[in-house]
Amino acid sequence: MKKWTFQDRIIAPSLLAADFGRVRDETSRAINSGGDWLHLDVMDGHFVDNISFGPAMIQAVHETNDIFLDVHLMITRPDHFLPRFVEAGADMITVHVEPESDHDVSKTLAAIRAAGCQAGLALNPATPFEEVEPYLDQIDLLLVMTVVPGFGGQSFMAEVMSKVKSAVALREKSGLSYHIQVDGGVGISTAKTAANAGANVMVAGSSTFSAEDMGAAIQAIREA
Ligand code: DX5
Ligand code: ZN
Repeated sequence: MKKWTFQDRIIAPSLLAADFGRVRDETSRAINSGGDWLHLDVMDGHFVDNISFGPAMIQAVHETNDIFLDVHLMITRPDHFLPRFVEAGADMITVHVEPESDHDVSKTLAAIRAAGCQAGLALNPATPFEEVEPYLDQIDLLLVMTVVPGFGGQSFMAEVMSKVKSAVALREKSGLSYHIQVDGGVGISTAKTAANAGANVMVAGSSTFSAEDMGAAIQAIREA
């Protein structure tokens, strides 16, 4: 599989916006339309107010495609479920920094890497950048949420771009190489805002899967 770096512009269609009745076809559609990664939103109804899908879905996608699987865990017990997502075929596993009773962030990130996956860390719009700073040397990707997680189709919050800029500055200063991802409300014009701030991975759900021409939509985001 290709080795992606933060210098790559990566478009990750989010399966949450796909037709769940035809998941494998939808995955192929994303690949044929030029999607680089597939973003998979796992929600448990506790961490966020929505329930999406779990490891079985990741496995179903993994069995028929070899696209890079970018798994975004919005669940209260990431440590407990980690092995099942690894087993299912995840390439990147992203967990949230926001505190949960017994969630040791460093330990979780180390466990993800020890299992052979890349480790991502996410922060919500309301969470200050300082919260993720201690972990930046332990991650392959920083996910700066551009909506309050839980649902697709929300509006992009441009005010969090200051966190993207801080992440770029710190990466340069410390010689690190993590990707910077934005997730939520990313379309052609907001992708431009995010790219200008320094994000290189664009998660796009509704703006890709719901577009009349998915290939044209992905191309337009890439060019933006
Ligand atoms: C939101 C999810 C997103 C969602 C994005 O909680 O993390 O990945 O699928 O959907 P759009 O692109 O429609 O805002
Ligand atoms: Zn997501």
